Amino acid sequence: MDVMTAIRTRRSVRRFSPEEVPDDLLRSVLEAAHWAPSAHNRQPWYFIVSREQEKREKIAQASTWAKFLPAAPVMILVCTRLDYKGGPTPQKMIEWFSIQSTAAAIQNLLLAAHSQGLATCWIGDLNSALLAELFTIPKGYEPVAIIALGYPAAAVPGAPPRRPLEDVISWQ
Ligand SMILES: Cc1cc2nc3c(=O)[nH]c(=O)nc-3n(C[C@H](O)[C@H](O)[C@H](O)COP(=O)(O)O)c2cc1C
Repeated sequence: MDVMTAIRTRRSVRRFSPEEVPDDLLRSVLEAAHWAPSAHNRQPWYFIVSREQEKREKIAQASTWAKFLPAAPVMILVCTRLDYKGGPTPQKMIEWFSIQSTAAAIQNLLLAAHSQGLATCWIGDLNSALLAELFTIPKGYEPVAIIALGYPAAAVPGAPPRRPLEDVISWQ
């Protein structure tokens, strides 16, 4: 699948088949995430892979927008480092860098998964306190997203419309 096709046909999928995802396939999508660009090449991301149904259920119960999470056979908790020092770079900028770099890694992951026939949904509805109870998050890292991942259940949803391209571009 070429990159533009992957970008255009990737969808947020919230219904999954119970079929397990092989470890080597998971590793390949995580490797795609890890090849993302990052500010100062800090690679501030950290990925916690979980196949535990009970954890997904607890997270779903505590959420508003992740009720579908237990249907996915795998979840990836994406964390980022907000605490590193960047010399003269202001701390706020460092935090933005970490968020931007980790978002780039997430998008790589979603596209790589899609290109391999897997379905994903990026979830930003997080309860950080609960996640800290359920997982061992390395010191200095903060959870920023959950990726629900698995094979899609049935027909993938249609594309939610995008705003007209002209509305989000100015040529200056
Ligand atoms: C930062 C971020 C947070 C999101 N959080 C959620 C979420 O908590 N629950 C959910 O169902 N979808 C979530 N989404 C998915 C969006 O709803 C989805 O990307 C958007 O509606 C466009 O649909 P598409 O991904 O199929 O193109 C999130 C996406 C992003 C980028």
